[in-house]
Amino acid sequence: MKFNALTLAVASAWMWQQAEAQTPPGTQPATGNNLGVTYNGTAKILPGLLLPPASLRNEPTVSLNRTVSGTYMVMLVDLSIAAANTTSNSTVGPLAPGLRCGGTTRLHWLQTGLVQSANGTFVSNGTAPLAVYGGPGPPATAPSPNVYTFYLFSQPANFTLPAWDAGRDIYAASAADRRNFSVTAISDVVGAPVAANYLQSQNPAAVNNSAAAQACPANGTTSATPSATPASFTGSAGKAVEVGGWVIMAGVFAGAAFAF
Ligand SMILES: *[C@@H]1O[C@H](CO)[C@@H](O)[C@H](O)[C@H]1NC(C)=O
Ligand SMILES: *[C@@H]1O[C@H](CO)[C@@H](O)[C@H](O)[C@H]1NC(C)=O
Ligand SMILES: *[C@@H]1O[C@H](CO)[C@@H](O)[C@H](O)[C@H]1NC(C)=O
Ligand SMILES: *[C@@H]1O[C@H](CO)[C@@H](O)[C@H](O)[C@H]1NC(C)=O
Ligand SMILES: *[C@@H]1O[C@H](CO)[C@@H](O)[C@H](O)[C@H]1NC(C)=O
Ligand SMILES: *[C@@H]1O[C@H](CO)[C@@H](O)[C@H](O)[C@H]1NC(C)=O
Ligand SMILES: *[C@@H]1O[C@H](CO)[C@@H](O)[C@H](O)[C@H]1NC(C)=O
Ligand SMILES: *[C@@H]1O[C@H](CO)[C@@H](O)[C@H](O)[C@H]1NC(C)=O
Ligand SMILES: *[C@@H]1O[C@H](CO)[C@@H](O)[C@H](O)[C@H]1NC(C)=O
Ligand SMILES: *[C@@H]1O[C@H](CO)[C@@H](O)[C@H](O)[C@H]1NC(C)=O
Repeated sequence: MKFNALTLAVASAWMWQQAEAQTPPGTQPATGNNLGVTYNGTAKILPGLLLPPASLRNEPTVSLNRTVSGTYMVMLVDLSIAAANTTSNSTVGPLAPGLRCGGTTRLHWLQTGLVQSANGTFVSNGTAPLAVYGGPGPPATAPSPNVYTFYLFSQPANFTLPAWDAGRDIYAASAADRRNFSVTAISDVVGAPVAANYLQSQNPAAVNNSAAAQACPANGTTSATPSATPASFTGSAGKAVEVGGWVIMAGVFAGAAFAF
């Protein structure tokens, strides 16, 4: 796959304006440090790149362009899960907020026990993943591309999942308990991400609908009370993201496609 000149220009302009943004604009936790994310050994992810789900099925490698010591963990989280539509009260409860109004998050990968190898990539020290890698599978009903963020965190020797995320069955890629996963609950414990990166992915059958992408479902039909203005990051568990700036960012990337 060749580098697309338009994509390069758009991405360069974006990088020039937002050199700090290695996490989606307006989301927390945030970092300006780039995490190298490479699929199939060669396909590198530029922040915000739009890629088809079928191209993201293989577990990528992550790397840092500087030498670090110690133990790390990587996670991939979809920030674009739609609000659930349920008339039952059984699932009512607070949600780790995502980028969609009233929506939430979904964990796609959580590997602990990573150490950096001589070439900069992170390799498992033999620890099994807490959540096996599952590639993006955005639904055809999604009104805009889903946003998937990779976070690399330093892993303290005594690390255990914080209360919000603990006690769930998150191992299998299909696990229902991967929804409503809070990254800020983790950064509250281990600090800001060391590095991050993110991509966008869209079901090939999906149709963009900017009105629906912004719409808040009526209260009483979802599993959580929608909030038109999700709370900003205060350090308390569960507050994953706020939406400010995201619409602008989506426009900037309107021309993004493959670019390796
Ligand atoms: C990775 O390789 C698979 C074939 O094994 C291919 O289908 C996929 O598109 C590739 N992904 C990228 C990002 O190049
Ligand atoms: C790492 O940084 C060097 C020097 O800035 C640069 O030449 C190289 O392309 C970078 N590699 C990656 C993977 O970002
Ligand atoms: C959900 O709970 C509210 C408040 O307890 C109640 O008014 C409503 O009827 C319940 N809805 C359903 C579908 O059970
Ligand atoms: C989301 O996760 C929190 C913490 O585990 C839990 O209290 C809440 O009930 C969950 N919300 C839903 C709708 O499942
Ligand atoms: C791998 O890292 C984990 C921390 O996740 C640590 O508990 C374990 O002792 C390490 N194993 C090896 C073989 O270094
Ligand atoms: C980097 O090092 C790891 C561990 O030695 C190895 O598995 C991997 O193939 C290397 N990657 C490259 C691109 O050389
Ligand atoms: C891990 O150790 C640090 C430093 O000793 C401590 O502050 C923290 O509470 C511990 N965390 C857990 C989950 O036990
Ligand atoms: C929820 O689902 C019901 C039944 O499929 C449908 O009639 C209703 O319009 C949906 N509500 C929302 C807010 O999507
Ligand atoms: C849902 O309720 C919250 C507060 O309870 C309110 O701020 C919000 O505007 C309501 N949303 C809709 C679509 O009515
Ligand atoms: C949807 O909009 C994004 C920009 O946010 C664009 O990159 C993508 O190509 C659009 N998808 C479709 C199916 O039109």
